[in-house]
Amino acid sequence: IPVEPFDLVVFGATGDLARRKILPALFRRFCAGQIPDGTRIIGAARSEYSIAEYRDKLAADLKKNTNDALCDANVLAAFLQLVTYVPLDGSAETGWPALCERLSGRGGDERVQVFYFSVGPALFEPLAERLHSYGLTSAATRIVVEKPFGHDLASARDLNRTLASHFDEGQIYRIDHYLGKETVQNLMAVRFGNMLFEPLWNSQYVDHIQITVAETVGVLGREDYYERAGAMRDMTQNHLMQLLCLIAMEPPAKFDPDAVRDEKLKVIRALDPVEPYHIVRGQYAPAPGAVGRDLNYRETVGNQRSSTESYIALKTHISNWRWAGTPFYLRTGKRLKARSSVINVMFKDAPHSIFGEEAGRHANHLKIRLQPNEGITLSVTIKEPGPGGMRLMDVPLDMSFAEALGPEGSEPADAYERLIMDVVRGNQTLFMRGDEVEAAWGWTDPIIAGWQARGDVPKPYESGSAGPGDADLLLRRDQREWRGINP
Ligand code: BG6
Repeated sequence: IPVEPFDLVVFGATGDLARRKILPALFRRFCAGQIPDGTRIIGAARSEYSIAEYRDKLAADLKKNTNDALCDANVLAAFLQLVTYVPLDGSAETGWPALCERLSGRGGDERVQVFYFSVGPALFEPLAERLHSYGLTSAATRIVVEKPFGHDLASARDLNRTLASHFDEGQIYRIDHYLGKETVQNLMAVRFGNMLFEPLWNSQYVDHIQITVAETVGVLGREDYYERAGAMRDMTQNHLMQLLCLIAMEPPAKFDPDAVRDEKLKVIRALDPVEPYHIVRGQYAPAPGAVGRDLNYRETVGNQRSSTESYIALKTHISNWRWAGTPFYLRTGKRLKARSSVINVMFKDAPHSIFGEEAGRHANHLKIRLQPNEGITLSVTIKEPGPGGMRLMDVPLDMSFAEALGPEGSEPADAYERLIMDVVRGNQTLFMRGDEVEAAWGWTDPIIAGWQARGDVPKPYESGSAGPGDADLLLRRDQREWRGINP
């Protein structure tokens, strides 16, 4: 859908997120012809760069962070023409008059103006206040904020209150970049675009569901933040929770922001508290003989007594009509042996085997690969070939997006490209509503408080492994096993 020329101000324009994600995403949309002439992109940060200096730095970043083929000199030059820079202090008055001037002459209040708060939450309030006091807001103003949205329920409520005192909920776009991933949206398409799955999508037919988000990266470069957050706050409270919501929610009546977010919220509110013995925390440590600071969590963060988890596995239930009795197993971790985000929907055994026990018991299994090698595999039971009688085996019905959709489909737009354009279009479907974020913290807080009260220390696991052995036990106790990164 084409958009009208718009203004986008990036506060924190010299920061890592702006340089690696936000501006490259805008550039790629520009290359795709989606950013119309007349659009104004304004970087704002404390560094005293001139516009020319900022453009030079940006050009260097874009060459590093986007596909070379895009960086044709003329295209790049045309994009840079849309971009200017204002040295500005978010918590003082410096630079604001210059920003006002840059934004003047916009020709009517209906022109969309996006203010991207790519800054720490401490600056939300001062920024919001100044946007108002300098007369920079209108009904067409949208603000974008990033995770971490708070550190716990109380701080998330404070942030929501702060933002609500300056903006309507309809103007606030809270990003969880997992929702911008093509394959994550595909969860909804697979569930609600097919007749095949939904009738079976409940505790009567589904034995259990596994959600794995495994990463090979460590935390080097983000030590301070991560040491305060850990895998629970960094990944589980948001990305895993969003995946859980999309896989478990009731069909919304339509694909509309509040209809979708209402259903997600119901899932979070129906989550059972997690029993302490249903959760495993891990922390990466070097394998014997391995050297390297980034293989050793405690060394990376410079705290030999750190009790922050870089790995979580947990079991929970959704207490509602559809899912009562079906366990959901979630796990995520850093420095694991493979990068793999995958959801496994494990169906129950057929109620009766007409072939006798010796044929073997097999159950269907739907595997949704979110990244890498995006696609879907449905395991189907067939007869083992050959004359040896009726024995059963599983074969995959495999659909890889790369094969099915060709080169274009196999390189989906980056999550930020979609999300930023959704902000410009005014579509909040893929953004978290304030009550969702609060409900997610409401579920997470008691878990974290329990660890603190018990002085819980995460189990070490070897960098490059599949995580702590206790995570396997968590499933083995239920006669189940993890699928995905384990062999
Ligand atoms: C971020 C987390 O939100 O998501 C990081 O803060 C994590 O710790 C990242 O590495 C994972 O995102 P992706 O898109 O690489 O799966």
